[in-house]
Amino acid sequence: MRSTRRRLMGALAGSAALMGAWPGAAAQLLATPPQAEGPFYPLELPLDQDNDLVHVAGSSGVAHGQIVDITGTLLDERGQPLRGVRIEIWQVNGFGRYHHPHDRQNKPWDPNFQGFGHALSDEQGRYRFRTVRPIAYPGRAPHIHFALRDRRFATFYTQMYIAGAPENARDFLLSRIGDRKARESLVVDLMPANTQGASLQGRFDIVLGRTVLSREAG
Ligand SMILES: [Fe+2]
Repeated sequence: MRSTRRRLMGALAGSAALMGAWPGAAAQLLATPPQAEGPFYPLELPLDQDNDLVHVAGSSGVAHGQIVDITGTLLDERGQPLRGVRIEIWQVNGFGRYHHPHDRQNKPWDPNFQGFGHALSDEQGRYRFRTVRPIAYPGRAPHIHFALRDRRFATFYTQMYIAGAPENARDFLLSRIGDRKARESLVVDLMPANTQGASLQGRFDIVLGRTVLSREAG
């Protein structure tokens, strides 16, 4: 099911020019459901906030955990790429702790993990991050927070989950999404990576619906 959707998305992205010329015929992609921002967005952004979260500038170390490449494309419901959008992610480190003063779990702070990063979607709407596989913490399935910021629309928040994680079925935010297809659109298969340095890779395409794109930035 997911791979069918992915093929469709690829085909749509490839035929964007045709669709632009014939808007009435454009297929409708399923909009990515929003999710709560959550309490752990950084109070202060780190000095190093690039799209490689497993290295921190000034240190030669590598973050603890399984390194994962996350790529994806940002599209509107017609499959048109959304360019130049600031995509931010934040998540727990490889021990399951946020680098945030309000995370009071007795788990290590990882000096080699950035905790937060950002990227800009390119001309085709693509983005990429290198991070560690998030792990579950009490009450939550493994997840990565996403915020999409752009002057054209109000900030959109969602969360990415990992296929096969046993905590998914019990996660209160994921299971709140009633529509199965919408829920599954947030759950990403992590496969063995064929890129250097990462052991896993996953693809998380994000579709911004009309209601999101028409909500003006405040
Ligand atoms: Fe979280």
